[in-house]
Amino acid sequence: MVDFKKEIVMILKKEIDSLDESEIKSMIEVPPNSDMGDYAFPCFKLAKTFRKAPPLIAKDIIDNIQDNDLFEKIEQAGAYINFFVDKTIFIKQTLKEVLEKKELYGSSNMGEGKNVIVEFSSPNIAKPFHIGHIRSTVIGNSIHKIYKFLGFNTITINHLGDYGTQFGKLIVAFKKWGNEEEVKENPIPTLLKLYVKFHDEAEKDPSLEDEGREWFKKLEDGDEEAFKLWKWFREVSLDEFNRVYKMLDITFDSFAGESFYSDKMGRVLNMMEEKNILEESQGAQIVSLDEYDMPPALIKKNDGSTLYITRDITAAIYRKETYDFYKNIYVVASQQNLHFQQLIKILEIMGFEWANDCVHVPFGLVSLEEGTIATRKGRVVFLEDVLRQAVEKTREIIKEKNPNLKNLDQVAHDVGVGAVVFQELSNNRIKDYTFSWDQVLNFEGETGPYVQYTYARANSVIKRSSIEIDSEFNAELLNDDIIIEVIKKIEEFPNSIKEAQGKNEPSIITRHIVNLAQEFNRFYHNYPVLVDDVELQKARLAVVYAVKEVIGIGLSLLGMKAPEEM
Ligand code: ARG
Repeated sequence: MVDFKKEIVMILKKEIDSLDESEIKSMIEVPPNSDMGDYAFPCFKLAKTFRKAPPLIAKDIIDNIQDNDLFEKIEQAGAYINFFVDKTIFIKQTLKEVLEKKELYGSSNMGEGKNVIVEFSSPNIAKPFHIGHIRSTVIGNSIHKIYKFLGFNTITINHLGDYGTQFGKLIVAFKKWGNEEEVKENPIPTLLKLYVKFHDEAEKDPSLEDEGREWFKKLEDGDEEAFKLWKWFREVSLDEFNRVYKMLDITFDSFAGESFYSDKMGRVLNMMEEKNILEESQGAQIVSLDEYDMPPALIKKNDGSTLYITRDITAAIYRKETYDFYKNIYVVASQQNLHFQQLIKILEIMGFEWANDCVHVPFGLVSLEEGTIATRKGRVVFLEDVLRQAVEKTREIIKEKNPNLKNLDQVAHDVGVGAVVFQELSNNRIKDYTFSWDQVLNFEGETGPYVQYTYARANSVIKRSSIEIDSEFNAELLNDDIIIEVIKKIEEFPNSIKEAQGKNEPSIITRHIVNLAQEFNRFYHNYPVLVDDVELQKARLAVVYAVKEVIGIGLSLLGMKAPEEM
C-alpha cells in the first residue's frame, strides 16, 4: 500500500538537507479543506537555513521536484507546499485494504505482550445501579474493546463497592426497620429505602452513625451475624447488576471488589509502616501529602477500621503482582479526581516505579433534569428502566416503519440499548451532561439508531445485488468529490481508533462513524448503486461494502450491535 505521507517525506528530503526525515514527517499537515490539497508542508522553519522568504522557498522547492505519478499536482500557496494525491490511486488502495482486511480493518498489534487493566462500572452493593453508573460502564467497556482491537491484552475488572461503613449502616437499618420477606421480594428498592431511612433518622439521632461504624468494624472482625447479612445484601445486589450487564452484553474477567482486599490490607499497612510514611493523628493513621498540595489521606481510623483508599492502595499492588500491568486504567467519575491523585501519589511515595502506570480516566457528572442524582435522598433513575423504556419505544417505531421485520424483539433490543449507549459516548467524556428522556429516545439526527440504520441500509444494497464484491473494481469510476469524502472517512478510521486509545476517548469513534454515515447517505442519494452497467455497479458496491464494514467495526468498538436489517 502506498503511504502518501512517506512518499512526501522522501520527495522533500531530497530538497531539504537541514531537516531529517522524522522532522519533515512531523511538520506535514492535513489542510482544513481539500482545495488546499490533501497534505501541506509549511516552509516557515526553513527561512533561517535557506536565507529566503518562506513563499520563495516553497516555490523553489516545487520547481526542483520531479514529476511523480502518485500526485495529481504539487502547488505553492503562500509559505505552503500543497500536495494533491492522485485520487484514483487513493480510492483504489483504501477500498482494497478494507475489502481484504474486512472486520480487522484498523486493528493492529501495537499492544502485543502488554497487559492493560480496565476497571469500570464498579457500582455499590445495596444501592441501585442508577443512570450515574452507566457512564463508567459504557465508557469503560468501549475503552476495553478499543485496546483489545489494537492488540493489548485487556483484563476487565469490576471493583464492586461491597465494603465500608455504609454496610454497617445498612445492617443497623435492617435490624431496626427491615424485614426479610420484603427484601426478598423487592431487594434493591427495599435496601435503598432502608438506607434513606437511616440517613433521615441519623439527622435526628447522630448516635446511629456510631452504631453503623461499630457494625462495620464487626464485619471487618469477622462477626458471624454481620457477615451473613452483608453476604446476603451482596448477593441480591449482584443479581440485579447482572441483569443490567446482560442487557448491555458486558462481561468482566474479575469481580474483585473492595471486600476482596479485606485480608490483604494488613500486609500493605505493614509495608507502609516499614517505609515510614504513616503518621499518627488523633489516634488515626494518615499519610501527609502537604508537600504535594493535597489534603492528608486517612488510611486507618482510630477504631482500627480501614478506608476506601486503603483498599485501593492494596488493590493496585495486588494487580501489579498478579497481572504485571502495562497500564491500570480506572474509569471513574471526575468527582473522585482527588482520590486518585492521592492514591497515585501514595504509591509513588511507597517507591513503586509503576505508580504512574495507574491512570484515572475521569468523566463528567450526570444530572437529572431537575437536579443531581443522589442515592441518599433516594431520587434515582434506574438504568434498567432506562434501557427497558428505550427498547419499548424502539419496538413501537419499528412496528410502524417496518411491520414485517423478522426478529423484531432482537432488533428492538439492539437498537434501543444501542441508542442509550451511543448517546453516552457521543460527547467528550469529561463534559457534564443532563439526562433527559427526550434525548435518549430521539431517533432522528446524530444518534445510534441513525448509524445502525445506515449499516442496515448498506447491507440491504449488498444483498440485493448479485455481483460478487472483490478488489477488481474500476476505481476511476469513483473519482468524484462526494465519493472521495466517503473514502477519506474510511481511510482516516484506523487513525481515529489509535487516537481514541491514546486519549481514552471513545467519542472520537462515535463522531467518526456518525460523519461517515452522513457522507455515505449523501453518496447514496446522489448515486444509484444497483445500476445496469455492471462495471459501475461493482465499483459503487465496493464503496457500500467498505462503509458497512467500517460502521460495523465502529459500532462493535463502542459496545453496540449492528443489526443486518431494521
Ligand atoms: N464504587 C465506587 C463508586 O460507585 C467506584 C469505585 C471506583 N474504583 C476504585 N478503584 N476506587 O463511587
